[in-house]
Amino acid sequence: MHPSPTQNRLPLSVYGLLALCRAGFEKEVATELEAFCAEIGMSGFVRAQPGQAFVTFESHEAVDFAELAEHCDWRTLIFARQLLPWFARVDNLPERDRATPIVAAAREAGQRFASLMLETPDTDEAKQQSGFCRRFTAPLQRELEKAGAFREGAKGLPELHVLFGDASTAWLCASLPGRAALWPMGIPRLRMLREAGSRSTLKLAEAIFTLLTEEERNAGLRAGLRAVDLGAAPGGWTWQLAHRGLRVTSIDNGPMAPSVMATGLVEHVRADGFTWRPQRPVEWMVCDMVEQPTRIAALVADWIATGRCRRTIFNLKLPMKKRLDAVEQCRAIITKRLVNEGPFVLRLKHLYHDREEITGYLALRKSA
Ligand SMILES: C[S@@+](CC[C@H](N)C(=O)[O-])C[C@H]1O[C@@H](n2cnc3c(N)ncnc32)[C@H](O)[C@@H]1O
Repeated sequence: MHPSPTQNRLPLSVYGLLALCRAGFEKEVATELEAFCAEIGMSGFVRAQPGQAFVTFESHEAVDFAELAEHCDWRTLIFARQLLPWFARVDNLPERDRATPIVAAAREAGQRFASLMLETPDTDEAKQQSGFCRRFTAPLQRELEKAGAFREGAKGLPELHVLFGDASTAWLCASLPGRAALWPMGIPRLRMLREAGSRSTLKLAEAIFTLLTEEERNAGLRAGLRAVDLGAAPGGWTWQLAHRGLRVTSIDNGPMAPSVMATGLVEHVRADGFTWRPQRPVEWMVCDMVEQPTRIAALVADWIATGRCRRTIFNLKLPMKKRLDAVEQCRAIITKRLVNEGPFVLRLKHLYHDREEITGYLALRKSA
């Protein structure tokens, strides 16, 4: 890890990383987290319990926060919704006064914070704390301010995340701007509009926000551009594109929702998504067909390699036990197909709206 000079001003030492995930995906996160920590040269061990919806990495020695934060972006791990360096674990929180020990731990860390986020893992049990988290944020902030550990909005200072593993345990974590998921618990609150046709629409909405940079959104989602949606029915993904003004060819033998067709920007073609081809290159191919992930990987890589589309967002269904192995197989297929086409961008993420599946973005770097 190579420190940058400006970041050395932060005094905080941390003791590892904490990742949030969907309950049931702890094994995948643990494997990814272990590999990530080995890659950045942090030695220690992973703790993961099935169903807990979070995984921790405990370092053998204290690590400089600024150095670690530099390497640590929540987008790095496919199966994590949030990824944060942690600096204290406070156990046995008294029910009547949780603030005092949390403030004491923050003071002891010797770091001032500019903002505060209270979170829980995404389990039914932990979510019972979410009302408490809302009520507790302002009083805790006041106590931190009084103790000299908080200066609201101060430039260059990290955000403090207090994550309640259960009612009596809090993990204190820190993040730098842009490095952590923007939303508490890594859960984006997206509203489902009735005319969007299906709840799947939220998957593409989240993917557009999470997997694309602002420049990619501006360049790729302009009115008048053309898109193809493979496995489109009833039309939630098509609607995300049409409602941004793109003209969409929707491939599916099933029926499209009338509200999606009513946008006037959609042509519905009843055909097989694996054999249908556009007559001219298009900006986007999106694909949500329920199929073996390796077949989807080969298909999207082929569309990019042959220039049929400039960019693609696709869903890989992962009903199997060895999900990470399946993902690596897909990555290998894509890499092999694109090896002679120049560098490419491949981002894969287990989105909040994904269940046993992940969503990916692929483009050649020259057109990303
Ligand atoms: C999960 S649904 C898609 C939902 C859609 N993204 C939405 O937002 O409404 C999967 C769709 O893929 C379609 N499908 C599966 N295999 C296909 C194939 N070979 N060609 C075209 N469509 C296919 C199915 O008919 C089904 O409508």
